[in-house]
Amino acid sequence: MILKDKRILLIITGGIAAYKCLELIRRLREQGASVRPVMTEGAQKFITPLAVGALAADHVFTELFSREDEQDVGHIRLARDCDLVLVAPATANIMAKMASGLADDLASTVLLATDKPVLIAPAMNPKMWEAAPTKRNAETLRADGVHFVGPNKGEMAESSEAGVGRMAEPNEILAAVLHLMDNREKPLLGRKAIVTSGPTHEPIDPVRYIANRSSGKQGHAIAAALAALGADVTLVSGPVNISDPIGVRTIHVERAEEMRDAVLAALPVDIAVMVAAVADWRVERSQGEKIKKVPGEGPAPLTLTENPDILKTVGHHALRPKLVVGFAAETQSVIENARTKLKSKGADMIVANDVSAETGIMGGDRNAVRIISADGVDIWPDMSKEMVAEKLAAKIAAYFVIA
Ligand code: C5P
Repeated sequence: MILKDKRILLIITGGIAAYKCLELIRRLREQGASVRPVMTEGAQKFITPLAVGALAADHVFTELFSREDEQDVGHIRLARDCDLVLVAPATANIMAKMASGLADDLASTVLLATDKPVLIAPAMNPKMWEAAPTKRNAETLRADGVHFVGPNKGEMAESSEAGVGRMAEPNEILAAVLHLMDNREKPLLGRKAIVTSGPTHEPIDPVRYIANRSSGKQGHAIAAALAALGADVTLVSGPVNISDPIGVRTIHVERAEEMRDAVLAALPVDIAVMVAAVADWRVERSQGEKIKKVPGEGPAPLTLTENPDILKTVGHHALRPKLVVGFAAETQSVIENARTKLKSKGADMIVANDVSAETGIMGGDRNAVRIISADGVDIWPDMSKEMVAEKLAAKIAAYFVIA
């Protein structure tokens, strides 16, 4: 947990996006951080200090001239006794105050007094974001070393207007916090990676599909582990029931052909790790209408046709990544089959695992893998899928140090 023991001073200013802060507080605390909230008067019009305080499990600071708060903590201590000051949502108004050094309430005073990193998540109407004063203020703040997350493009809550101004999602804010607070080495900084994960669903008709037991746990963990080492990661995920990993761009697809298209669109990259359990076959002609059971008639025959082999396509592509890693789910002759696959797929490394039902690997939380490459076979003991991901990311990083 990167945020373990990290103290975040969360300043909530008055925008409708303030409601997303409740989720953000939960996510930050899940990662081990403590959250001390400051709310402006405007923020309290959108969400209550009661809800914020309950989720943060701390006192909510609202007044600059509160005798109790000043005696107890004081605005200077508030500004200093933390590892990061996060402003979410950050209105055009607080940005203007910050840029000009105004200190007329607790939030702006703390922001002026702090010597800690400051991250802001702007949220406002697109016209306000594009307005010349806001542009100037954003530029000033960037020059002052303030970090930004968002705003994003999208529809506004209060109107049908669309444009840039939506606050970044809690997940993205969390990723930005993790990025700022993570002082581990980032050997994959500047490297791009693509990871596939999960199963694919191949439609038979609008309600039925062919699938497999892949959960996406291993692929998602690898995407997160590569991102934690600084890589710019695109994850192409089939249908799974787990959340998008933090710090990763996730593209959701259903079918193998969609997965291939998304992967090819992400090229060129330095690293490709194809973890997805892509269905080998799809139904040749999936039906637009639900196939009916007709009394007296047998089941409708399903004619299958081969799906594109994404790993093989990438392994032999004109824009082939410098490092191509494949997975091999086998139930017998694991190493032998992996060696053959290394060649046929044009991969540099095959991570082989035995997915016989009794291993419980497919869909489970643990994995026991063997890494087959031109250098030979590396056998790793049984460990969590997160640990496999971390070790594999480290091995990938080592490849780039040597190469
Ligand atoms: O041939 P097999 O399915 O065992 O190969 C497994 C490896 O190939 C995995 O890395 C998997 O992601 C990839 N693969 C693929 N496209 C397919 C089938 C497998 O990318 N159609």
